[in-house]
Amino acid sequence: MGLCVACHGEDGVSRVAGTPHLAGQDGLYLRRALQDYRSGRRQHVPMSSLANSLQPADIEALAAWYASRPGFAAAGVAP
Ligand code: HEC
Repeated sequence: MGLCVACHGEDGVSRVAGTPHLAGQDGLYLRRALQDYRSGRRQHVPMSSLANSLQPADIEALAAWYASRPGFAAAGVAP
């Protein structure tokens, strides 16, 4: 998760304009997003190269962790 914090926030709530919140997002959706960046089905710099460095088990763990976090509303941050 260390890699992700700079953009998506310590708690999965992004404070960076143009970067989506991950906390509280649907876990299956997060998993598919990462798989799609990895396969090239979805393309974005830098997400595509970051996802390429993740193993399938990392993707499972990251998706489950972010899905379990309280979302942006709990952090008092705008969508
Ligand atoms: C340099 C900034 C940056 C870093 C570092 C970063 N991301 Fe992202 N991430 C983004 C941006 C910007 C997007 C939106 C990309 C797009 O339009 O597809 C995004 C999109 C995503 C999405 C899709 C969200 C959605 O709602 O569709 C997921 C999941 C994700 N990132 C997970 C991660 C994980 C896990 C890490 C760490 C391994 C990470 N990101 C590191 C900037 C970053």
